[in-house]
Amino acid sequence: MSERRKRIVVIEGEDAAPEAMRPTVELIDQLDLAIDWVRPPVGDEGLAQHGSIFPAEAREAIDSSDTTLFGSTSGKSALALRYLRWGKRTFANVRPARWFKGCRSPLARPEGIDFVIVRENLEDLYLGIEGDVDALSPLNLVSTTEQRPLAELAPGRFALKLITPMGTERVARFAFELARLRKARGHPGRVTCATKYNMLPQTDGLFRKVTEEVATDYPELEFQSFIVDDFARRLIAAPQELDVVLLPNLYGDLLSDAAAGLIGGLGLAASGCYGKDYAYFESAHGSAPDIAGQNRINPTATIFSAAMMLEHLGFDEPAQRLVQAVEAVYAEGRVLPPDQGGRASTTEFCQAVAKRL
Ligand code: IPM
Ligand code: MG
Repeated sequence: MSERRKRIVVIEGEDAAPEAMRPTVELIDQLDLAIDWVRPPVGDEGLAQHGSIFPAEAREAIDSSDTTLFGSTSGKSALALRYLRWGKRTFANVRPARWFKGCRSPLARPEGIDFVIVRENLEDLYLGIEGDVDALSPLNLVSTTEQRPLAELAPGRFALKLITPMGTERVARFAFELARLRKARGHPGRVTCATKYNMLPQTDGLFRKVTEEVATDYPELEFQSFIVDDFARRLIAAPQELDVVLLPNLYGDLLSDAAAGLIGGLGLAASGCYGKDYAYFESAHGSAPDIAGQNRINPTATIFSAAMMLEHLGFDEPAQRLVQAVEAVYAEGRVLPPDQGGRASTTEFCQAVAKRL
């Protein structure tokens, strides 16, 4: 563990998100680590103090920090999120799906579900380039399915899907390295990639090809490649077979919510986004406006994201302690949040976790 104290930016997010974030920070404080929290003004606070929802002060705080713990946003912290992903180039979005005793899975036999989705986090349809098809007319594009010029299909709008070899290779390597690490901890050592390469041979076909090439550098790992609709069925029918799942951005967004559904819902969905020089951590769920102010949001996703963060900072043992304390509360089953079939408030649940730390 490093000698230097770690600086962590906290962005609480909106709606119910702060109700999960505040007790999570208190739990980490209880671990007594060499951590300094930094709370830059973002969203409404940024607007009031600096006239911007993402003022330069906030960006500088992120730049001079070791990491950020980010609470779900309704939109007011969206510029901060954009900076954390595209500004800090956090290309690998890691979303674990692990069932443990007490989680309210809809499956009859959720035992043994323990896989991680690695979602490419910067490219694909998330470039945000959309427009009027008329703007494409100089390109004289022809639809392969319609077998006629795009111009004949106007008026309409398009969205641009971009896959690059560089963007794919770095996230694929990340996934294989993760599978290697997990194999050392007793997991099968299997990377499963899913794309729509049959319909999108240029873009998804490239993602698949680059991933296949990276796979040859890891002969000790098993590699599978499926068409993404077939993969969606496998995800539901045999989730125990999965270890590390590599997906392009949009499929990763969709299927990581589905994966959370398998184990017991979005209340359990943690994530960490890793780049070359920076990583930040956020629950995969939204800001839950429907339950804002009710002290009933399940903070597990935020706590687990924070545990991933602690591990990233080198606090492996405290991270494990935090996860085990949460698991103990679930296993006992007396103090559970409403989404897991219990009646405990967020505060009561966190107090139960704190007692077991
Ligand atoms: C997620 C969210 C985001 C995404 C939204 C808030 C832009 O759904 O982190 O999964 O689509 O990536
Ligand atoms: Mg999502």
